[in-house]
Amino acid sequence: MTTEATLISGDALKAAALKFLSEMRDKVEREQNGLHSIFDSWFTRVLTRLIAFDPSRSWEDSVRENAARPPAQDLSLQWDLMRLRLFLDRWVQGHLVEYSERERSGVHYHPRFGTEFGLDVLLTCQGAPSLMRWRGTPLMKNVFDFAMYPALIAELRPQTIFEIGSGLGASAVWFADNLALSGIQGQVHSVDRVKVEMEYPHVKFYQGDCSAPERLFDSDLLHSEPHPWLVVEDAHHNVIGVLEQFHPVLSPGDYLVVEDSDVKRQAIRDFVGAHPGEYLVDTRFTDNFGRNATCAADSIFVRTATRRSETPIDRAG
Ligand SMILES: C[S@@+](CC[C@H](N)C(=O)[O-])C[C@H]1O[C@@H](n2cnc3c(N)ncnc32)[C@H](O)[C@@H]1O
Repeated sequence: MTTEATLISGDALKAAALKFLSEMRDKVEREQNGLHSIFDSWFTRVLTRLIAFDPSRSWEDSVRENAARPPAQDLSLQWDLMRLRLFLDRWVQGHLVEYSERERSGVHYHPRFGTEFGLDVLLTCQGAPSLMRWRGTPLMKNVFDFAMYPALIAELRPQTIFEIGSGLGASAVWFADNLALSGIQGQVHSVDRVKVEMEYPHVKFYQGDCSAPERLFDSDLLHSEPHPWLVVEDAHHNVIGVLEQFHPVLSPGDYLVVEDSDVKRQAIRDFVGAHPGEYLVDTRFTDNFGRNATCAADSIFVRTATRRSETPIDRAG
């Protein structure tokens, strides 16, 4: 792990690009019946152009020189190369990444959110002026998370979802509907300072205050509900206290999502710092629509089986 974040370049960039291209081609045949996504097409097109440059030189040098040469028709290739480098820099890290490493490599992105896009998208992606709704009730998820959570639920197949911060109850209902869509007989437990008065199959709402995290959920419940769990912190109060409360009852493979994490970074740093190697960011979910295209920037964690000093789990992706 480096202390300074340097973006992939030179021969390492070329090797990563060719490796990714080969895996991408396999995926296109295996999963997409030969059909290319927008990203697949773009990647192939850019790589075809880069490979045509003098192989003894780095792509960075060739593209820089090419852009300076009149007529300046190839400025877009500079943009393409930067996108390619950012993407491959993430890809070579594998899909499970330490939080500290994510923060370090975040310097290449939006200074506060670590996203590939800007505040403009973040301002409106929950809906503006109106929130999205689920079964008629306003839902405080953004469009990226609206696509991310179903994928996470379909893969994790959580038997239990704990939500801290029910809002109007729409997210708990949406989680339950997603469990059902994936054919999972799971249960959602959702707590808020103000209890949601709603009845819905497989959802239980509770009253609780994050100021007293030990009383958010009954201890018997926390020791009896089946795993895997998906725990979603979305109350924004006493975050470290809430995360520490869950830590002893989380099992390897459980997922912990801290929403709106741009304002919770110190709490997250303290939490993962207190449990080295036990929580890794799953970048398949934070980055699938672009780096940190989620309100849970760098904070979709999988609870690992090991501590840092022991054998690490699969980091190859
Ligand atoms: C962002 S909203 C939750 C939105 C909901 N999860 C959704 O996606 O639609 C945050 C919720 O946290 C609750 N909250 C704030 N402070 C709290 C505390 N100290 N204890 C429990 N809940 C709290 C608020 O009442 C509010 O409903």
